[in-house]
Amino acid sequence: MSNEYETLMRCVRSVRTKTDFVPKVALVLGSGLGDYASQLRVEATVDYHEIEGFPVSTVPGHTGRFVFGYVGDVPVVCMQGRVHYYEGYSMTEVVRPIRLMKLLGAEVLFLTNAAGGIQLGMKAGDLMLLTGQIASFVPSPLIGENIEELGPRFPDMSRIYDYDLQKIAKKCAAETGADLKEGTYLQFTGPAYESPQEVAMARTLGADAVGMSTACEAVAANHMGMRIVGISCISNLACGISPQPLSHKEVQEAADAVAPVFQKLVTQMIKE
Ligand code: 6GU
Repeated sequence: MSNEYETLMRCVRSVRTKTDFVPKVALVLGSGLGDYASQLRVEATVDYHEIEGFPVSTVPGHTGRFVFGYVGDVPVVCMQGRVHYYEGYSMTEVVRPIRLMKLLGAEVLFLTNAAGGIQLGMKAGDLMLLTGQIASFVPSPLIGENIEELGPRFPDMSRIYDYDLQKIAKKCAAETGADLKEGTYLQFTGPAYESPQEVAMARTLGADAVGMSTACEAVAANHMGMRIVGISCISNLACGISPQPLSHKEVQEAADAVAPVFQKLVTQMIKE
């Protein structure tokens, strides 16, 4: 058995001493969207630092805990605060929470983030459904001995984002009045925002939005056979497209501003 699988099993046992809640959906809350957990009918919360061998976020505004509860009658585990590669964690550590949520029972992964918009016509406050991704600028979380218990050595990546879940997302957007764009998400390592030249490169490569998370998590979840859906909150236009310099504060404020629409959409999608 691999070391990482043993670590994951320790994490499972650690969580199981606190709750026996079995989630169906795993929801990762991005920058400024962490508030969503307050909408759940909460059954249990587990702080990351209570879990043996767990990475703990260092970014202000990223609280680190699992919230277990119900959205309607759907059992959900929320990751309130994720860890990022730029914080200095290995990719194995970055995706550990994702793998753990699958081992706790989650079959669907709902990824959210704040991202910089690149697509023509995009503006701050837009929401973008992820239809594809480019993860080639960050190391794969699958590098190293394959964890056979989780998935195959060479996983297929032709359909990372589940087609049926995309259809549900579009239907729910129409119902809730959310203006949902769609496109390809490209992950850079950060922590610096991109230069205008890097944004131009990303656009040439077919990216519609850029960020510092999510794609690696989708790689790990796809490896385990989870069904994945992702939505980016376009908190700002990427450098070179935006006339203003970027600040983390603005990113957070913009994410907070769309939160009500976004929350409605997420709730509707989980219920469906
Ligand atoms: Cl412009 N770039 C990256 N990498 N991440 C972001 C962003 C930009 N805006 C929000 N998150």
